Amino acid sequence: MKIIIDTDPGQDDAVAILLALASPEIEVLGITAVAGNVPLELTAKNARIVCELAGRTEVPVFAGCAAPLMRPLVTAEHVHGRTGLDGPVLPDPQMPLQDAHAVDFIIDTLRAEGPGSVTICPLGPLTNIAMALKKAPDIADRIARIVLMGGAYFEVGNITPAAEFNIYVDPEAADIVMKSGVPLTILPLDVTHKALVTKERNDAFRALGTPVGIAVAEMTDFFERFDREKYGSHGAPLHDPTVIAWLLNPDLFTGREINVEIETRSDLTRGMTVADWWRVTERAPNALFIGDLDAEGFFGLLTERLARY
Ligand code: BDR
Ligand code: CA
Repeated sequence: MKIIIDTDPGQDDAVAILLALASPEIEVLGITAVAGNVPLELTAKNARIVCELAGRTEVPVFAGCAAPLMRPLVTAEHVHGRTGLDGPVLPDPQMPLQDAHAVDFIIDTLRAEGPGSVTICPLGPLTNIAMALKKAPDIADRIARIVLMGGAYFEVGNITPAAEFNIYVDPEAADIVMKSGVPLTILPLDVTHKALVTKERNDAFRALGTPVGIAVAEMTDFFERFDREKYGSHGAPLHDPTVIAWLLNPDLFTGREINVEIETRSDLTRGMTVADWWRVTERAPNALFIGDLDAEGFFGLLTERLARY
């Protein structure tokens, strides 16, 4: 399966990239960075740090949009630290950033590859993806599926009471993606808050004894602090790796084909994912909205793949 990972690393983004690069079922055509958890310069740097940690310097990394379509950037250093990848001490990347803009790479790749053969995996705000769809509407029909981490329903928000961070940062971009007609799978907080790195799971990463295993343990140690202090949670939620795990084994997840729309007008509920979970409207389903996962199966898969490094 060919994929493009669009990302704002982020410790959980980093684990998602490591999971994808360790999985032979997946061919990562490129990694596109977007501004989100930290500014673009840092997300583009962190994506390359992660590729080097994985020993995969041939994977091309592109920088994309530095700010949301219509709003100033909101970042999340309070969660991810100043660098976005606080926790492990990892060397600055030596591999180059590609010259092309991420949006052009996405468009050119979709036009060059067979129709329906490339899956897009957004792990941050949807700015790059919306820009590509606006600039080249013909690509919508060529995307196999967009599998994204974002939104919330029962779990409501983590950046405001109503909204999840990725959707909140660029709600206009999310609105474009929801209305694109591309098949969508959405991994919301409802699922990712069940993918918690408990002490035992963190110990299992560290026990791998490899640079990757130790770095993942240190990343999730750092990331855990915020959720414990803020929500009393028992472990760091591994939001973004659920996207890659769904590609590898969708049977670990359950969800519903429903209508999902994005609130773009209200200041109070900006970026809310209005998910018609109970199908109380006539609005046509536009997404597979995931509601639950088999956490043991998820961590079993993740740890087994990380052990391959
Ligand atoms: C999402 O926001 C970021 O902080 C994480 O990387 C994840 O993509 C969770 O709301
Ligand atoms: Ca992310």
